[in-house]
Amino acid sequence: MSIAAPPTATVGPLERGLSVLCALSAPDADERMRHSDLVRATGLARATVDRVVSTLARLGLVRSDGREVWPAPRLMELSGAYLAASGIPAALGPAVDRLADEFDESVSVAVPDGDGVRFVVQAARRRHMNLTFRIGDLVPADRCAPGTLFTGGQDWAGDDQLIEPGLVAVAVPLRDPARRTVCAVSVASHTSRHTVQSLAEAVLPRLLQRRGTLESALAAPRATAPSSAPVRDTSPAEKRELGPDYLQSLARGLAVLRALGADRGEGMPLTAVAEATGLARATARRSLLTLEQLGYVGCARRQFRLRPRVLELGCARLSGLGLTDVAQPHLADLVRRVHESASLAVLDGADIRYVARVPTVRIMSIDITVGTRFPAYATAMGRVLLAGLTPGERPAVDGRLPALTGHTVTSADELTALLDKVAADDHALVDQELEEGLRSLAVPVRDGRGRVVAAVNVAQHAGRGTPEEMRRAMLPELRQAARLIEADLAALEPR
Ligand code: PHB
Repeated sequence: MSIAAPPTATVGPLERGLSVLCALSAPDADERMRHSDLVRATGLARATVDRVVSTLARLGLVRSDGREVWPAPRLMELSGAYLAASGIPAALGPAVDRLADEFDESVSVAVPDGDGVRFVVQAARRRHMNLTFRIGDLVPADRCAPGTLFTGGQDWAGDDQLIEPGLVAVAVPLRDPARRTVCAVSVASHTSRHTVQSLAEAVLPRLLQRRGTLESALAAPRATAPSSAPVRDTSPAEKRELGPDYLQSLARGLAVLRALGADRGEGMPLTAVAEATGLARATARRSLLTLEQLGYVGCARRQFRLRPRVLELGCARLSGLGLTDVAQPHLADLVRRVHESASLAVLDGADIRYVARVPTVRIMSIDITVGTRFPAYATAMGRVLLAGLTPGERPAVDGRLPALTGHTVTSADELTALLDKVAADDHALVDQELEEGLRSLAVPVRDGRGRVVAAVNVAQHAGRGTPEEMRRAMLPELRQAARLIEADLAALEPR
C-alpha cells in the first residue's frame, strides 16, 4: 500500500517554477519567450510568471531582458546533476566515442522514461540528411530502436525509419548485475548506406562482443561526487534584500534537485539531502515530495534519486551550446561597461581564431569577424593562450618572428620571457605589435579542470590613454567577464 502525500505537502512555487522551466525548454518553444507566452504555455497568472521569472533570473537559470526570457547555460546544472548521478555518461561516454569512430556512424545511449526513452549520451556523425537525437530528447518508445528493449527480453531491436524517412538504427540492451535493463546503446545510420538488416550484420557482432565490457563499466563502483559549489540556503538578510518577488521555496526546491546530483548510485536519504542543502528536514522533505510527485525524483526504500525527466529542464536546448553562444552575452555586457570592442578567441596551431565578437567602433584597418585569424605571438589573446600551454606544447619558433609593426617582439627568447610573465600576471597587454595604433588587453578563460580554453580581450585605440590606464580601468571588468563565461562553461561541462 502506498500512502499518498497530503496535497498540502507539495510546494506550489516549486511546481510553478518547474512548469515555467519546462515551457522555456519545450522542443517547439521559441528561442526567447515573452512573459505573455509563458502565461499562455503554463496557465499561470501573469503576476506569478513575473515572480517565477525574476527568481529564476536571480538564480542564474534564465536570462531576461525585461521583455523576453530564455534559458541560461546554468540551467544545465540541473540536467548535469541527473547525468552525474546516473553515472551513464561517465561510464559509457569514452566507449561510445570509440564505437562511433569504429563504425563511422552515430552511436547513442538511451534510458527509459515513462512511455518513451530519453537520450543521455550521443556521439553524432554529422552526415547529410541524418537527424540524430540530442542529449535530453524524449522519443516515444515505439518510434525508435531502443524503445522496445525496456519491456521485452530481446537481444536487439531495429528501427526501420520509424521516426524519420531514411533513418535506420539498431540497439542492444545493457543490463545490471540483477539482469534489469538499465539503458540501450544504438547505432544509427542512413538508408543510403544501410538497411536495418545490413546495419545489424555490420555492427551487431561487435556490439554484442563489447556488451560485457560496457555492462562492467556501468556496474563498476563510482568515484564519490566531486564537491560542486555548495548549495546554500538564503539567509534572512539576503531574503530581505532579494525582496518580496523572490520565491524562496522555489530556490530551495531547485537546490534539493542539484544536491541529489551527489548521489552515486545508491540514492540519498532525506538526512543527506537536508545536510547538503542546509535546509530543515521538513523543508527538504516537502521539496522532495513535490519533485517526486512531478516525476523528477524517484524514491525507493527511503532513498531519493533523480529521474531522467530532469533532462526536460533545458538539456536538449543547452547541451549543444558552444563557446560562441556562451561568450556572446557576456561580451555584450562587457562592451556596455567598457565601451570598447570585446572578443573571444581560441588557439588554432600558431594562430588565434576569433569565435565570438562584439564590436563598437572599428579601430583596425581590417574587419575582424568570427573566424578571423592572427598570429598568436603578436596578440594579447594569443599570448594568454600560449602562456596556458607548457613550453613543450607551444608551437616551435624557427629563428626570428616576422615583425608586423615597428613594435613587434621578434626574438624567440624575448617572447618566451614575455609568456612566463603573462602566465604569472594571468593577463597580457599588447601595444601596437599587431597593428599600429591598436592596443589589446586579454585574460584567459579556463575550463573546470583549470586548462586555458579561450582568451577574452578588449581592444582600444592607442591614442585613448596609456597602457597602464587601460589596465587599471579594464582589467577588473575583463576578469569579471571571464569568470562569468567560465561559470557557464562549467555548467555545460559533463561532471
Ligand atoms: C540516434 O542516436 O540518433 C538514434 C537512435 C535510435 C534510433 C534512431 C536514432 O532509433
